[in-house]
Amino acid sequence: MTEGARARNARICGIGAYLPRTIITNDELAQRIETSDEWIRARTGIRQRHIASEDESCVFMATKAAEDALVHAGLKAGDLDGVIVATSTPDQVFPSVAVRVQAALAMDHGFGFDVSAACSGFIYALSTANAFIRSGQAGRLLVIGVEAFSRLLDWNDRTTCVLFGDGAGAVILEGGASEKEGILSTKLHSDGQFGDILYVDGAVGKQADKAVLKMNGREVFRHAVTHLADAVEEALRDQGLSESDIQWLVPHQANQRIIDGVARKLKLGSDQVVVTVDRHANTSAASIPLALAEAVKDGRIKKNDLILMEALGGGLTWGSALVRL
Ligand code: UT7
Repeated sequence: MTEGARARNARICGIGAYLPRTIITNDELAQRIETSDEWIRARTGIRQRHIASEDESCVFMATKAAEDALVHAGLKAGDLDGVIVATSTPDQVFPSVAVRVQAALAMDHGFGFDVSAACSGFIYALSTANAFIRSGQAGRLLVIGVEAFSRLLDWNDRTTCVLFGDGAGAVILEGGASEKEGILSTKLHSDGQFGDILYVDGAVGKQADKAVLKMNGREVFRHAVTHLADAVEEALRDQGLSESDIQWLVPHQANQRIIDGVARKLKLGSDQVVVTVDRHANTSAASIPLALAEAVKDGRIKKNDLILMEALGGGLTWGSALVRL
């Protein structure tokens, strides 16, 4: 590509979030199953999670987060060229959550589709939207991570049900950023050989009573530690940057111990790491945009700050995104 025709980065111009009304604490769970607040907090950092009520569908939560992001950006739905939603818990097999959100926002133009990459879904969707914008196929896109993992859980399985929560986070990406701002790089990886260490045991046409999430937590933990360290290093190397250039780590919120491990590797202080896992638990594809929304809206993350995002999830899938806000 010649200098004049070089593609421009996309930048984040709006951020929004939605958390379900109902909060369930560890102590409340301990009244129903053989667990304790002490065990959950020590192993994961989680104190509570938001759980979607029947009227809080993924489309509902995603639309709320999208509306919040539009207000934050000072834009209307008519200003968007499309909607990309990362989710593993769509309300229906099809239509996608994205086109339902498109309809809820009264958008009668553009396109919408869902991305399935489990807990790495937001990084995958962000990367996809950035590529659409850099290639000139779209000027402004809504990217949403939304999950209702509570509907995928076996509430009698203490090894999984204490770990997850529901919610939605959204960003609006627009083109025209310079080489040094916006989405500087995204790195995506997957390895299907490890598909059986974190999966849902149901599918279309199978006679399962209810598809539920199954996880070999120890194995996933082991992969998370190595892959996330590699993904972080790869993102920095790609841009010729070092750990000291990073102002903020906005990680996927699966486990405080995994987050601390990545932060240690980057030599970041705890005041440079956005943590929501204590209050949200693991909201899968929604966790990064929810954390980003919190830290931007409370003023911690400011314009021009360099942010590193990373995630690992079922697939296995993993990846990172380096963003200058
Ligand atoms: O977002 C997708 C990616 N997911 C992740 O990154 C999750 C990665 N994994 C983890 O975060 C951790 O492996 C867990 C938090 C899931 C589990 O922590 P752990 O330190 O690996 O515990 P463990 O699975 O080795 O279990 C230790 C013990 C077991 O008892 P025994 O066999 O030692 O007697 C479990 O049965 O803790 C028991 N246990 C519980 N006890 C009380 C498991 N779940 C619970 C529970 N309450 N909820």
